[in-house]
Amino acid sequence: MNGGYAVGAFNTTNMETTRAIIEAAKELKSPVIIQITEKTMEYAGGRQIFNIVKNCAELYAPEIPVGIHLDHGKSFDICKKCVEIGFNSVMIDGSRKNFSDNVSVTKNVVEYCHEKGVDVQGELGSVPYIGEMEAGEVDWDLYMTKPEEAAEFVAQTGVDALAVAIGNAHGFVKERKEPDYERLSKIREKVSVPLILHGASDWENGRVKEAVARGICCFNVDTATRVAFVNSIIKTVHKKDEIAFDIRKILGDAQEEVKKTVQKKMIDFCSAGKCSISNHSKNEETHTLKTDEIGEE
Ligand code: G3H
Ligand code: 13P
Ligand code: ZN
Repeated sequence: MNGGYAVGAFNTTNMETTRAIIEAAKELKSPVIIQITEKTMEYAGGRQIFNIVKNCAELYAPEIPVGIHLDHGKSFDICKKCVEIGFNSVMIDGSRKNFSDNVSVTKNVVEYCHEKGVDVQGELGSVPYIGEMEAGEVDWDLYMTKPEEAAEFVAQTGVDALAVAIGNAHGFVKERKEPDYERLSKIREKVSVPLILHGASDWENGRVKEAVARGICCFNVDTATRVAFVNSIIKTVHKKDEIAFDIRKILGDAQEEVKKTVQKKMIDFCSAGKCSISNHSKNEETHTLKTDEIGEE
């Protein structure tokens, strides 16, 4: 299914993070997905942040396939809005609903999006957030994706990609001692669409390799880049010299740190160098990365 590597889907909130991701992808010749959440759309304006990503990709890295994706869309309406704006793919996250309500909202989004040529990621099982992890011992069985249900979910909804829960969590937190790799293999056997792993900020080489070997095609990363950005700002500001009050210096340094973080991830995911692979050239007119190309040779 995958070609021994996975694509990184990196969250952006602003121009600097976006440029960092695009420049990292360009230098490493890596396909990439840039994703935007509802909160970021509220903060920056949906059309505004979309245009920043699109312009940045076209201006600085026209040769790189860049997917522009809605991350964790919680309703049909937000998915529709993103389609209208021009996103290439959306995620409808019905993972906190019961199975049939999750199927129902996901199916509606798929029907609408496929009419417009937009791909859809669904989530079954649920990837916990940092607050839930810190609240106490997590009952992983409640969160994890059940392979039989995954097959049913994909068949009933028609999603193009599936986010799975195998012991992964959002944020820099102590996750399940070992991801449930067996479960991942079982899901892979039963489901043919690309599998996505959220919460990959703290996933290093060994885990990444195992997950890719068992079928993960895409890793979502947010916390690692946010931490790099904010830590850099703190460091620059604490210098307390004249330069610390130059916004371009503060944000320019932060951009550089985010770029380094993204590049490290692209190397770990083995997506570096994959743009030279002929398969991606078929999207040369749009420069976009289609969901069925994620992780393909
Ligand atoms: O899982 C997704 C993001 O890390 C959540 O970020 O604060 O933009 O919703 P957000
Ligand atoms: P992290 O913040 O743990 O990298 O998770 C990112 C994510 O899953 C975005 O959807
Ligand atoms: Zn996520």
